[in-house]
Amino acid sequence: MTTASAPGKIILFGEHAVVSGTAAIGGAIDLRATVHVQDEPGRVLITAEDLTLRGFSFDLTTGRIQSAQAAHAIRYVSAVLREFDARDMQISIKSSLPLAAGLGSSACIVVAAVAAVSRHQGHSLSRKEIAEISYRLEKMVQQGLGSPMDTALATYGGYLQIAQDIQPLDLPLLDMVVGYTGTPHDTKSEVEKVQNLRKRYSDLVGPIFQAIGAISQRAIPLIKEGNAAELGQLMNINHGLLASLGVSSRELEELVFAARGAGGALGAKLTGAGGGGCIIALPGRAGPEALLVAIRQARGMAFKVVTGCEGLRLEEV
Ligand code: PMV
Repeated sequence: MTTASAPGKIILFGEHAVVSGTAAIGGAIDLRATVHVQDEPGRVLITAEDLTLRGFSFDLTTGRIQSAQAAHAIRYVSAVLREFDARDMQISIKSSLPLAAGLGSSACIVVAAVAAVSRHQGHSLSRKEIAEISYRLEKMVQQGLGSPMDTALATYGGYLQIAQDIQPLDLPLLDMVVGYTGTPHDTKSEVEKVQNLRKRYSDLVGPIFQAIGAISQRAIPLIKEGNAAELGQLMNINHGLLASLGVSSRELEELVFAARGAGGALGAKLTGAGGGGCIIALPGRAGPEALLVAIRQARGMAFKVVTGCEGLRLEEV
């Protein structure tokens, strides 16, 4: 049996503006996807469990799917199986990440699957190769969309700065709370919306992008120093700028205000493409527990996470 696990991610600062080349910061989180591979003579079987799917299985040999919602994870794992011309194996996926929430659930499934399937076949791929293959496969399944950030974070872990290129950042772990609206988000349509706005109002949106990029740059030393109060303020400013670009929603705002109000957060913002998906909040004096309660009372799903966590982990039994 070969097992690999890889982390999900949050974008701390800089989403959308990064599409036009300014800096963004992403961090790996301690919610992970795990892929087990074991011999299964005569067939290729995929089984999966996660927070939203509550278990399904799919038999590639007979084409039988036991849950319609399974399609998402199956598409990614099937692409990995085709890449490695995999046969005679059972692949089990376990993920603690909600799907289509902007937490990198597909990237960590792809990275863990590439690592586990290739190792099970006796290959020894480097992390760089795993990150590159995973990015190519994720992009192919998503029909051309997707930045290398999610697969890079799932592989290397820690924090990354994304601008024209991707650079690791040496920053300490950070406690955060993630609030999921329960509404899936659609990165492609949100990016198109913002890019159309930029074309139409370039004199207004250009400076907003510049301000977002400046926030990312300013946040780096604050994370290093552990200056949570100022970091929280930057999160609030970043959220306001994202809202001005039209990517917030009533559900996201409700979670942001619950986090800042009853949750006592030092700062809260949407994370990722917006339109749905998640917020992140930085715990204040009342700690993460108060935030979890406040977000749940506002009808969100809440997770305590640590950012900057370990990347891909491989185990052979
Ligand atoms: O929500 P996600 O994880 O798909 O993040 C999208 C981030 C954007 O900046 C909006 C798009 C991108 O490719 O960087």
